[in-house]
Amino acid sequence: MADDFCFFSKDSIIKPPKASPMMLRMVVLIFAMVCGVYICSIGLKQIGVHSSGRIVSVHVVEKPCEATDIEPSEKPYVHFPKPKTFSRAECACNPVRNFAILSTQRSGSGWFETLLNSHMNISSNGEIFSVKVRKSNVSTILDTLDKLYNLDFFTSASKNECTAAVGLKWMLNQGLMQNHEQIVEYFKTRGVSAIFLFRRNLLRRMISMLANSYDQSAKLVNGTHKSHVHSPKEAEMLASYKPTINTTLLIPNLKQVDNMAIKAVQYFNSTRHIILFYEDIIKNQTILNDVQDFLKVPRRDLHSRQVKIHKGTLSSQVENWVDVEKTLKGTPYESFLHSDYKI
Ligand SMILES: *[C@@H]1O[C@H](CO)[C@@H](O)[C@H](O)[C@H]1NC(C)=O
Ligand SMILES: *[C@@H]1O[C@H](CO)[C@@H](O)[C@H](O)[C@H]1NC(C)=O
Ligand SMILES: *[C@@H]1O[C@H](CO)[C@@H](O)[C@H](O)[C@H]1NC(C)=O
Ligand SMILES: *[C@@H]1O[C@H](CO)[C@@H](O)[C@H](O)[C@H]1NC(C)=O
Ligand SMILES: *[C@@H]1O[C@H](CO)[C@@H](O)[C@H](O)[C@H]1NC(C)=O
Ligand SMILES: *[C@@H]1O[C@H](CO)[C@@H](O)[C@H](O)[C@H]1NC(C)=O
Repeated sequence: MADDFCFFSKDSIIKPPKASPMMLRMVVLIFAMVCGVYICSIGLKQIGVHSSGRIVSVHVVEKPCEATDIEPSEKPYVHFPKPKTFSRAECACNPVRNFAILSTQRSGSGWFETLLNSHMNISSNGEIFSVKVRKSNVSTILDTLDKLYNLDFFTSASKNECTAAVGLKWMLNQGLMQNHEQIVEYFKTRGVSAIFLFRRNLLRRMISMLANSYDQSAKLVNGTHKSHVHSPKEAEMLASYKPTINTTLLIPNLKQVDNMAIKAVQYFNSTRHIILFYEDIIKNQTILNDVQDFLKVPRRDLHSRQVKIHKGTLSSQVENWVDVEKTLKGTPYESFLHSDYKI
C-alpha cells in the first residue's frame, strides 16, 4: 500500500512539466511529508501489533512447564495437561504420565487397581468403557480418552491437582481389540503406556467367571451381587457356590482367552508396555515397585482392602472336578490343574 502510494506520487511529480519551480518544490515537499507520515504510521501500527501480540502470547503460555530432569527418550510420555474443569494449582507443572491397564475379566485387575489407587499420585479411573455409548465407535473412544488424559473425567479415583499418573482399566473385549489400530496409534502419539495384566491359570479364571456370573442372579451375599469383597466372611459366602464346567467347551474356551491375550500383546508391542501376571504379584509384591517405576511415580507401600474369594485347591471349587481333570490331562493346559499358589 505504502509503496504504491509513493510510486504514484513519483509519477505525478514527473508528469507536470510546466509548473513553476516553487510550486514543484512545494508539491514535492507535501508529497514527501504525506508519504513519510503515512509510512511512519504504518510502521508504528505494525510495531504496535507486534508488541501487543507478543504480550498476548506471553500471557497465554505464561511460565511454560519445563520437563526438567527428564531424559529425551522419556519426553513423549511426559504431559502437562490443562484441565478445562479445574486448575491444577500448585501442581500445574508436575509432569503427568498416561497409562491403561489392559486385562480380561476376573484376572485380578480390580484388586490391582485398588492397589494403584492407594498411591496418592495415581488415578486409575476404573472400567470407563463398560458403558456402551463410550465404546460405540472409535471416535467416542478417542474422545473419552482425550477427556481422561486431560484430567477432565471424574470418578471416585480422580485425585485431580497432584495426579502424576492417570489411566483406566480396559478389558480387551471392551472395544479394544476391534479398534486396535487406531488405539495403538493414539497410544503412540499421546504417549500412553500399556500395563498388561493377565492371569496364568485360566482355569481358575474360568471358575471365577462362572461364579461371578452365577452370583449376578443368586446374590449370595445378603441379596446383593458382589464382584469383589472386603471380608473373609463375604468371600466364604461367594465361594460356597461350586460351578459345573462344561467340558465340551472347556478347551476351546481356554484357547480363545489365551489367543486373545497373545494377539493383544502383538497389537500393542510397538507401544511402551509392561506385562504382569496376577499370580506373580500375589507371590511377590515387590513387583509393585516395578510398576511404580514404570509409571515414574515415587515408590510407596500400596495396599488393598479386597479379599480373595477362591482360595485353596481347585478340586474343592468345582462340582465336576473328575471330568475336568480327565479333559485337561495330556493337553497344554494340564498345569492349570495343579494350583501353583495357596493363599
Ligand atoms: C459414534 O457414536 C456416537 C454415539 O453413539 C454417535 O453420536 C456418532 O455419530 C458416531 N460416530 C460415527 C463416526 O459413527
Ligand atoms: C503427589 O501428591 C502430593 C500431594 O498431593 C504432591 O505434593 C506431590 O507433588 C505429588 N507428587 C508428584 C510426583 O506429582
Ligand atoms: C449380612 O447380614 C448379616 C446378618 O444379617 C450381617 O451380620 C452382615 O454384616 C451382612 N453382610 C453384609 C455384607 O451386608
Ligand atoms: C455344553 O455346551 C454345549 C455347547 O453350547 C452344549 O451343546 C452342551 O449341551 C453343554 N453341555 C452341558 C453338560 O451343559
Ligand atoms: C510386533 O509384532 C509384530 C507381529 O507379530 C512383529 O512383526 C514385530 O516385529 C513386533 N515388533 C516389535 C517391536 O516387537
Ligand atoms: C520379586 O520381584 C522382584 C522385582 O520384580 C525381583 O527382583 C525378585 O527377584 C523377586 N523375588 C522373588 C523371591 O521372586
